[in-house]
Amino acid sequence: MEQQRILDLLGEMSLDEKINQLFQGCGSFYTEGSVATGPASEQGFSEKTILEAGSVLSVAGAETIRKIQKHHMENHPHHIPLVFMADIINGYKTIFPIPLAQGAAFNPSVAYTGAEVAAKEASTAGIHVTFSPMVDLVRDARWGRVMESTGEDPYLNSVYAKALVEGYQGDDPKKPGKLGACVKHFAGYGAPTGGRDYNNVELSERTLRDDYLPAYDAAVKAGALLVMTSFNTLNRIPSTANKWLMRDILREEMGFEGAVISDWAAIEEIKNHGLCEDKKGAAKLAMEAGTDIDMMTTCYCNYLKELIESGEISERLLDEAVLKVLELKNKLGLFENPYKDADEAAEKTIMLCAEHREKAKEAAKETFVLLENSGILPLKKEEKVAFIGPFTEEKSIIGAWSIFGEEKDVVSIKEGVDHYGANAIFAKGCDSIDPGKEMIGMGPRYACRRTKKEADAMIEEAVEVALKTDKVVLCIGEHMAQTGEAASRGDITIPKQQKKLLRAVARVNKNIVVVLFNGRPLDIRKIKELAKAILVVWMPGSEGGNAIAEVLYGETSPSGRLPMCFPYSVGQVPVFYSEFHTGRKLDYSNLDNKFQSRYLDIPNKPLYAFGYGLSYTQFAYSEVRLSNNLMEKGDELTASVTVRNTGKQKGAEVVQLYIKDDCGSVARPVRELKGFKKIWLEPGEDKEVSFKITEEMLKFHDINMDYKAEAGSFTVYIGCDSDTDNQATFNFI
Ligand code: BGC
Repeated sequence: MEQQRILDLLGEMSLDEKINQLFQGCGSFYTEGSVATGPASEQGFSEKTILEAGSVLSVAGAETIRKIQKHHMENHPHHIPLVFMADIINGYKTIFPIPLAQGAAFNPSVAYTGAEVAAKEASTAGIHVTFSPMVDLVRDARWGRVMESTGEDPYLNSVYAKALVEGYQGDDPKKPGKLGACVKHFAGYGAPTGGRDYNNVELSERTLRDDYLPAYDAAVKAGALLVMTSFNTLNRIPSTANKWLMRDILREEMGFEGAVISDWAAIEEIKNHGLCEDKKGAAKLAMEAGTDIDMMTTCYCNYLKELIESGEISERLLDEAVLKVLELKNKLGLFENPYKDADEAAEKTIMLCAEHREKAKEAAKETFVLLENSGILPLKKEEKVAFIGPFTEEKSIIGAWSIFGEEKDVVSIKEGVDHYGANAIFAKGCDSIDPGKEMIGMGPRYACRRTKKEADAMIEEAVEVALKTDKVVLCIGEHMAQTGEAASRGDITIPKQQKKLLRAVARVNKNIVVVLFNGRPLDIRKIKELAKAILVVWMPGSEGGNAIAEVLYGETSPSGRLPMCFPYSVGQVPVFYSEFHTGRKLDYSNLDNKFQSRYLDIPNKPLYAFGYGLSYTQFAYSEVRLSNNLMEKGDELTASVTVRNTGKQKGAEVVQLYIKDDCGSVARPVRELKGFKKIWLEPGEDKEVSFKITEEMLKFHDINMDYKAEAGSFTVYIGCDSDTDNQATFNFI
């Protein structure tokens, strides 16, 4: 539709109609027709609001959505279509590995492909917009939502943010098989105090700008249609009411022109944060700050009219917000085709089709991180191996946000290994949830009703099985429901009964390979002590079992690298590689010196560093070569290394470039990731890997908050992880 026609439409709409266009209700309000029955009226939404609403969330299925849309279009005073939104995070029906795992692939095309498949499936099911990518920078493993992010690094997250937006939207979200992307949660949600979900955030402006904003910016630059506000306060102002954040930074500085949506009930929560006394006050603050769409509260629909009529806020602000919503619908082509790609027939063939499953399997294989291997892996198909542990059968491995994915469609490890045709025996050993425990708020679905006695008997059976083979693959980890939203943990180890299983098996069999399921970095000191190999598989998705079998048996060498440090213990978190120097740097040669920046009881370094991961083969690096050791303003340098596969198997290396600003007007990180390349090498093969170093890569917010590169010396590191010492220096003049 032409822009002028949209402006005309806006002019024709009544005040009520405009206000209701900003309301987003959930699918259950509509599944029985567009009338405020049951839940909607109980929550204070009028029939008129439901009838004139602008968007709906969390409903899917071509038939259902077509029905709702048809009813809506027929009854809406101006026949304005609804836009259907949902959380399609790592897949719709074909589930890819969780985003944190995708980050571990160090290969943005994994995320691009996942987003492309998700968009194809979800759009066929009638959805128009996904609440993804979530690009919050995450450094605190206690926070359950680290699984939704691609990790702790601004550069890695930015590269993935772009890939995800492009995967969902293609070159035009209007096109068949594409979704609009909504980047979230703006801003700083990944740094809740104490790692506790929904908690407040304190970040200096410099840290916000240097570390936290780049990934949102990358998603905006990639053309994301929407931005979602975050639940947290940022320096004491809730994001949803933060004018500086949304008007000055998001709109002015980043140039975002799309619609801003609140997170679920976040407008009403402004009141809970103590910034206003009632919902009317919350509506005023959110509107002034630039929040266009109100997800699931009555703040806008029941109070904006009063605010406008009393002159407390101007109708111009309302018009601006409504225009954003109408423009969003137009960008999605809904005025021409309100049903977009909703297609019942296609739904039957496309969901979980062989091509999508294959892509999900290949993606999963790239995300696994081999942390330890004393030569026990890869397994041989003919040798008899015992697969023990709850995750041999567990199908809750699709990630906490796979709301439309079904566990029945998941390939478990047992199924994957059987399908691979390996010589294996199996024992569950224990449940993934401790005996007698229930995951808070998850009801009977995620609970273990077994008594302690019954649970211990299962361990005994598993020990018998472990005695029968030379090698044991122990499939253990945290439960999917221990990760995700509202799933912060103060103890980041695996459940107790699984630890007991590990100890019991280790007493009778020393050849243990641990396959670790997790939605966050865990404290795995005990596992490290007892296992000869550790393969981190995160929450690998629908094809998890097949992918794990192929990697364990050496069809493909593991090629993932850690997108977040694995802490030594929870006492270290937040722990991240790009920290700052202190005035009292720990001197490892004199650990008796007390007055240094250190802990008395644990090391400073994480158990496994950012970027770390092994392969079934080994790689050797040449020294770093620089095209010049002087770089002038506006100039470029080339930094390169030669990497050689010195082992006996094909494998992938993630060649990582870090830069350290040796001296700055403010303290600078000890190093920062500025590039990476994943290369596959045959045994004996070598490759030259080069990175361009530009002035842009040296910029940061200086003492005056100007974003620029300062003259001086820089150290360039190129190596296999964030601990590499392979370096060269240059001067920027
Ligand atoms: C989450 C968002 C999500 C929204 C809608 C909220 O609780 O924080 O990430 O998109 O719900 O489901």
